[in-house]
Amino acid sequence: MTFEVAKQKCEEYGQEHVLRYYNELSSTEQEALLTQIEQTDMSILEKCKNMEELVKKGEISPLAAMELDEIETNKESFTAIGIKAIQDGKIAAVLLAGGMGTRLGSDDPKGMYNIGETKDLYIFECLVNNLMDVVKQTGTWIHFFIMTSDKNNDATIKFLTEHEFFGYKAEYIHFFKQEMAAATDYSGKIYLEEKGKLSTSPNGNGGWFVSMKNAGLLEVVKREGIEWLNIFAVDNVLQRIADPCFIGATLARNCVVGAKVVRKNAPDEKVGVMCLEDGRPSIVEYYELTEELMNAKDTKGDPAYNFGVILNYLFNEKALEGLLDGSLPLHIVEKKIPYLNEAGELVKPEEPNGYKYENLVLDMIHQLDTCLPYEVVREREFAPIKNKTGVDSVESAKALLKQNGVVL
Ligand code: UTP
Repeated sequence: MTFEVAKQKCEEYGQEHVLRYYNELSSTEQEALLTQIEQTDMSILEKCKNMEELVKKGEISPLAAMELDEIETNKESFTAIGIKAIQDGKIAAVLLAGGMGTRLGSDDPKGMYNIGETKDLYIFECLVNNLMDVVKQTGTWIHFFIMTSDKNNDATIKFLTEHEFFGYKAEYIHFFKQEMAAATDYSGKIYLEEKGKLSTSPNGNGGWFVSMKNAGLLEVVKREGIEWLNIFAVDNVLQRIADPCFIGATLARNCVVGAKVVRKNAPDEKVGVMCLEDGRPSIVEYYELTEELMNAKDTKGDPAYNFGVILNYLFNEKALEGLLDGSLPLHIVEKKIPYLNEAGELVKPEEPNGYKYENLVLDMIHQLDTCLPYEVVREREFAPIKNKTGVDSVESAKALLKQNGVVL
């Protein structure tokens, strides 16, 4: 892209300020900036002007979960179906590790965080150990896709390679990078993080399937006969991955997606809950849950919106291909964004100072026809590490790991 074309594009979207240091840059830096401007979707930034419209929800009604007693009754048959699907090579695992983990406050990829006490025990290692349990149980290596972003890709690959993938077979591991999106101030103006570089952040965890496709990995999926993708978050160190019983239940119920859920520990707990929205599966975020929905009861007299998602889903791959032509709604998230101030100095803010623009996995679910919410025991499968201390923290996750017999 030439300077003139870039300038025109920026002017069209009111972003011409990003070129203000252009003449101070070396020719390599100039070229890099022009390429970045070419690749940045500036039209999305217009959307922060009508934020209310973006969050509009349809009509919410309950979606029954498969609860623990039903799972227990069918455990043997579900597990057998799941084990067979794994042994037939139909299941792959996808780790979403492109996030910035800003709440944890470390510059390294979150998976590199060491939670060991008497020995090293990294978050990545916990996840690999959990997946290895199923590899051993089924005698089958499971293809393991790992999503990173520009911000943490090199560090992630270096770390995992140096640790020899914590015993996972290298030929079953596939890395791919997610796309980035520009980050702006509250009026939608793109921040600069260097004189020749727009501020960007990963475009949310909902872009994973498109990014897998862009990286050419759907060819691996096809070649290997993979039919189901179990995506999971980097920060839940207790979760079961490629869990045969969960896989079997989703297949037995003929759903195109299964969602692991936990019973909420309080009506106002800060988790998204499974529901139907205009008759289709959906997730209503805790901040969207009205008083009325919070107190609603189902036919058994239990709270109707009582099962929170834990970002562990089993997607039918064919069903996802059907979504590739459409687009996902955009979520605008307040974040702390490092930026160049008027004097051209880099500032790392202590408080949120603008917006990131993200696609979220939960919107993929709403575009699919059927979803099975599958209850898991939270003390056994839900130990997210979001913060350093307090709720969903290193401390709380360590306590839960110990409770489950993991030596730290
Ligand atoms: P979070 O919602 O906790 O976001 O991600 P985050 O960016 O990692 O953390 P904070 O909010 O800055 O502290 C939930 C999961 O989705 C992944 C994360 O890596 C984590 O596994 N994720 C999130 C991505 O893979 N890409 C993204 O763009 C965002």
